[in-house]
Amino acid sequence: MKVLIISQKEEQASHIKERIANLPITPIILEYEEVKKEISRLYPQIILLCEPKDENYLSLLPYLQKELPLGKVIYLMEKRDPVKSRDAHRAGVLDVLFLPEELEVLPEILERAMESVRSGESSERVGKRGQIISIYSGKGGSGKSLLSAVLGQTLSLEWSQKVLLIDLNLQYGGVETYLQMETGRNLSDLTPVLEELNDVHIRNVTTVEPYSHLEVITSPTNMEQVNQITEYHVERILRSARLSYDMVIVDLPSHLNLLSYTALEEADQILYLLEPEISSLQILGKVLQQFQAVKIDPADRFSLVLNPVSTFQDFRRTEVKEYFSFPICAELREDRKGIQYLINRGKMIRTTKRDRNIPLYARDVQKLALSLIKQTQGGDK
Ligand SMILES: Nc1ncnc2c1ncn2[C@@H]1O[C@H](COP(=O)(O)OP(=O)(O)OP(=O)(O)O)[C@@H](O)[C@H]1O
Ligand SMILES: [Mg+2]
Repeated sequence: MKVLIISQKEEQASHIKERIANLPITPIILEYEEVKKEISRLYPQIILLCEPKDENYLSLLPYLQKELPLGKVIYLMEKRDPVKSRDAHRAGVLDVLFLPEELEVLPEILERAMESVRSGESSERVGKRGQIISIYSGKGGSGKSLLSAVLGQTLSLEWSQKVLLIDLNLQYGGVETYLQMETGRNLSDLTPVLEELNDVHIRNVTTVEPYSHLEVITSPTNMEQVNQITEYHVERILRSARLSYDMVIVDLPSHLNLLSYTALEEADQILYLLEPEISSLQILGKVLQQFQAVKIDPADRFSLVLNPVSTFQDFRRTEVKEYFSFPICAELREDRKGIQYLINRGKMIRTTKRDRNIPLYARDVQKLALSLIKQTQGGDK
């Protein structure tokens, strides 16, 4: 079970962590400022919300309850204040404890919280947690849109996954060419319903690719609509789509903006397309610096997709590994003949489940799809 400790004080957080070390839980520590950014991805079942002396963190409760409808909050206060304690109970916290005196009983309270989470899960059926996969590269034309489209089709066709593909390229889009789609309803049509966004709203604006039933939210082409799209759109759509899709793939532009930051922050997996050659490796170095500057944490979710890979290349997997320690989750062969031929003739790359004649590129994407499926089935989500 995932337990999130929200505390401003490092020492306090580590005391709490020590105290609960014997329980079967994975504790994660966050500072108050990081909560809104990380909460949906981490999706803890129990939250220990520590209030510093002169502040009131109760204001965070409605937010936590909205993002984690089945989460249990234990409120930890430093000063005894019966009024605040009553307010906290009214606001729906499971329990209130006073630190440091009551730290002793925390394990017991946590056991109770765990029990309550378990019974809630079995009676209410936990909302499904789909995976968000953001596809990115700092280099333009590196194959992001093609991979988004073919991966989406493969996961739908071969793994019966309910997949949503969101094109965040804005204005010029990207995936339509590979999926032979016209842009019709798009991302901007969700603006009026963002506050109460649900699966029906999302389904109303998706275009369905007829062979695989992959659902796609295209980008607006009209500048007026493009300018309406904010990072709030991205956050709301991704958090809502998680609940009704198995996989949500986000096709990102290479140029980083507030929308891409949000899609990267929310992602469970970031697939970075990297051509195995020196200038692309240098761009990746700069991208990682930028991630650090805006506090996007790549740990445990950033992996490399080498594309295109050919026998003529001087750089291979081994050379890339010398520069970066991230896992290489796929190698997509250069397949001009197979891929380009189909695209130029307006043909779809994937149309049926068991097709022996798919291009080499699509075979490599099959392997990637398999590894993503294995990860989600064996993962902790
Ligand atoms: N492994 C490959 N073999 C052959 N062609 C490929 C391969 N990967 C990508 N391509 C081709 O490279 C071109 C660019 O691909 P794509 O549109 O997916 O790039 P992108 O990263 O989305 O570009 P942009 O930055 O403009 O959004 C396309 O013509 C695509 O078919
Ligand atoms: Mg693209």
